Amino acid sequence: MDNKGIYFKFNVLIVGTIFFCGLIMGVMLITSISKYLENGLITSGQELASSLSVTVGNDILFDDRFSLWERLSKTMETNDQVRYIIVTYPNGEMMLSTFGNNLPAGLMSSRTYDSSKDIDSVLYDSSEGRIREIMVPIDDGLVGYIRVGMSEKKMTAIVQERSMETGMGVLLLCAFSAFMASRYAWNFLRPISKLVYGVKQLEKGNYGVKVPVYSTDEVGKLAETFNSMSTQIKKNTEENNRLLSELRLKEQDRIWLINQLFNAREDEQQRISRELHDESSQSMASILTYLRILHDRLDTDEQREMLFEIRELTANTLGSIRQLAVNLHPPLLDDLGLIVAIEKYLDPVKKLNPDIEVSFSHKGNFNELPKPISLMCYRTIQETVANSLKHAAPTRIEVELESDGVMLILRVADNGKGFSEIEAEEARLNRHLGLVSMKERTNLLDGRFELKTGINKGTEIIIELPIFDIEGEEMENGQGIENPVG
Ligand SMILES: Nc1ncnc2c1ncn2[C@@H]1O[C@H](COP(=O)(O)OP(=O)(O)O)[C@@H](O)[C@H]1O
Ligand SMILES: [Mg+2]
Repeated sequence: MDNKGIYFKFNVLIVGTIFFCGLIMGVMLITSISKYLENGLITSGQELASSLSVTVGNDILFDDRFSLWERLSKTMETNDQVRYIIVTYPNGEMMLSTFGNNLPAGLMSSRTYDSSKDIDSVLYDSSEGRIREIMVPIDDGLVGYIRVGMSEKKMTAIVQERSMETGMGVLLLCAFSAFMASRYAWNFLRPISKLVYGVKQLEKGNYGVKVPVYSTDEVGKLAETFNSMSTQIKKNTEENNRLLSELRLKEQDRIWLINQLFNAREDEQQRISRELHDESSQSMASILTYLRILHDRLDTDEQREMLFEIRELTANTLGSIRQLAVNLHPPLLDDLGLIVAIEKYLDPVKKLNPDIEVSFSHKGNFNELPKPISLMCYRTIQETVANSLKHAAPTRIEVELESDGVMLILRVADNGKGFSEIEAEEARLNRHLGLVSMKERTNLLDGRFELKTGINKGTEIIIELPIFDIEGEEMENGQGIENPVG
């Protein structure tokens, strides 16, 4: 019943109550009719017995049994409710009965009169239905007594007939009342069920839904308030949607700009790298060649020693310029792939930091990686390893790469000092943008960036990048992300 509608519950309650009341009323009515008829039966039995007692006195005194018999028979004939009459002696013993000498089983042959009662009556159950026997004294019992048995058969038939009529009446009345109550309940509950419908529509996102207002009472006011609330929700939702799409456009702008920025920076680094390699390195190499030729033509040892130092300085500078060019844009990344480029990047790191155990492990195939992803991995490793060396004072740095062809996971971890959120925020405010750039680059490639650190807890950076979602060629040209402004 709990999951049934309120209208159903209301109907069950009202109809149930009406039928229950009808039943009680019917029972009370039938009971009072029975009582009334029973009293009538007793009274008429009493009157009959009393009038007989007046007339039969002499017959008894003269022992005129024939006349007595006739009187009794006549009384029986004229009154169909009288089942039997018994005349007794003053001691209660039977003198004469309309049954003759043999009384039916269960009927008392001798009975004592109870004078304390207004009417002395007893009830018998017989095969013909209930019999009510009334006992009346003849001449105050000096002559004898008369016992008249009144059959309730007729009365029962009347009660049954009345019960049927009453039952039908009550049933019709109940049905009519139930119908009216149900109609009233429908009128009363219809606005509520409309409100429930409206709320469900709101829940489904059908904002602005209206419910009919049937009245000006509290339920009507509720419906009006619902309608204005619904209109307001619709307005707010439309406004929110407008703001959301504006925000999305702005976010697209931002992503596009950041992407352009990274690409521009990458292009610039590549240009400088190429210039350093092609121009500066070539010039320095030529200078070294000239210095070697000059070395052979010098006269004194002192001059040759000085020139040797100049050559050494120049060679070191050439080495630095080449390393700088590689760092700015690793040519190996384009030619030999990500793994070799990382190994080449880590070699000098290991050499320059013998106290730090630098490890690099990789699992999977990285040959066909889209360029933006391999560049992103390379730059992230450069930045995080540089961060570890610069800030963490670690004894171990681990670089791990894993790819199943769908997802690429990069993990760089050190066991150094770690840092707090406050430190990271301070660095960001001072335009130290290494970590920020990493996050942004990850976002651009639809990846997931995770940073685990804390004071003295080391630092671990995990980046997950989807591989198939990226159209490498387009991204490479800086057009992977469309300019939303056009
Ligand atoms: N591996 C690390 N260990 C300890 N601190 C770090 C590490 N990486 C970054 N940090 C902290 O986070 C800050 C921000 O790093 P980053 O954005 O790369 O800027 P920068 O390296 O130029 O300072 C750093 O200044 C440093 O305090
Ligand atoms: Mg940094």
